Amino acid sequence: MRPGPASGGTWKNARVPTCLILLAPSANHVYAGQAPALSAAEIALTCPGVQDVRQTTVAGIDYLELDVDELSEPRLEALSRASASLACFAREGDLLRPVALPATDLVDDDLVTIPKYQGKTNEQFTRLLVNVTLSALRSSPAARRDSGERLSVLDPMCGRGTTLTTCWLAGHNGFGVEDDTRAVEAMAAHLSTWLRRKRLKHTARTSKVRREGRAIGQRFDAELRLPGAEPLTIGVFTGDTRDSASLWGRRTFDAIVTDAPYGVVHGSHTGSGKDRSPAALLAEALPVWAGQLRRGGALGLSWNTHGLAREDLLAMFVKAGLEPLDGAEWSRFSHRVDSSIQRDLAVAVKA
Ligand SMILES: C[S@@+](CC[C@H](N)C(=O)[O-])C[C@H]1O[C@@H](n2cnc3c(N)ncnc32)[C@H](O)[C@@H]1O
Repeated sequence: MRPGPASGGTWKNARVPTCLILLAPSANHVYAGQAPALSAAEIALTCPGVQDVRQTTVAGIDYLELDVDELSEPRLEALSRASASLACFAREGDLLRPVALPATDLVDDDLVTIPKYQGKTNEQFTRLLVNVTLSALRSSPAARRDSGERLSVLDPMCGRGTTLTTCWLAGHNGFGVEDDTRAVEAMAAHLSTWLRRKRLKHTARTSKVRREGRAIGQRFDAELRLPGAEPLTIGVFTGDTRDSASLWGRRTFDAIVTDAPYGVVHGSHTGSGKDRSPAALLAEALPVWAGQLRRGGALGLSWNTHGLAREDLLAMFVKAGLEPLDGAEWSRFSHRVDSSIQRDLAVAVKA
């Protein structure tokens, strides 16, 4: 669980020269080794008014260190939402004074952590990808959250739904497409069981999808009703991501967030077997996804750079009518997953 609500302590809104973030452990030791650098890059993009985030060690423990003029509520919220934040301290000489981070998750994070399966996207990385993508929205996610509005996020290759359940944690609605029917069934089973076990008010159902009288697949829909708040929804179609626009009809999304097939365990499915590179699939899918994105919306994609170079992917974004974000601050996320996967992420906006 994330830290509890701020107690209105001494440091809220007070001037603090340096702030230290203790990072949460990651179950994956390869990812854990790279989490400080990745999280520093994430906080620099997502935390208002913070650019310089450094790695530091105090008494043998690693922290991220950042200078802030004040620990305002929006800043503390952004730090709490960061994918690997565990605790926050204000540094006073040799002493660290704890600063309570506000509780920002809308539901328990075991929704995301319980499922374990081959091909699952790392949970911390998924949170990072969602955060970094939403930071590129032209309308501030925080302002829209404050007005009670839910953002809509599409993962058009959603697997068993790590992105979608991560969206629920952050208070967004998640929508998906996945061509592996068994993956969608496993997600539906987990979500339905979790909602029942937590005794939350909800609906969850799977239905057949028909077009012109013919069954073409399934659709899973879940709605979670939280007291005094807009409901949270998840909706997923089974089907090919290149048909995402016809499956979702006129519906458009604030953001598209997806972890592309790595060409190792999960190849890209293009009809001619499994491809090692996602290039052929992305060339066809990106224009479809771009059409599903609202103006001012953002698309964030992670992929294996062994199968597709960054500059080639950015060129594909441009061809699809999207504006890639290519400053140095967007190019600090490449990291090793294993000997055959070097993962990176790229973000583009629909102007
Ligand atoms: C890296 S996995 C995503 C895993 C997901 N984030 C999770 O944690 O479960 C990529 C997914 O893309 C799906 N996929 C590959 N080609 C597809 C296509 N043409 N249409 C829809 N889904 C596809 C695969 O079945 C796989 O589930």
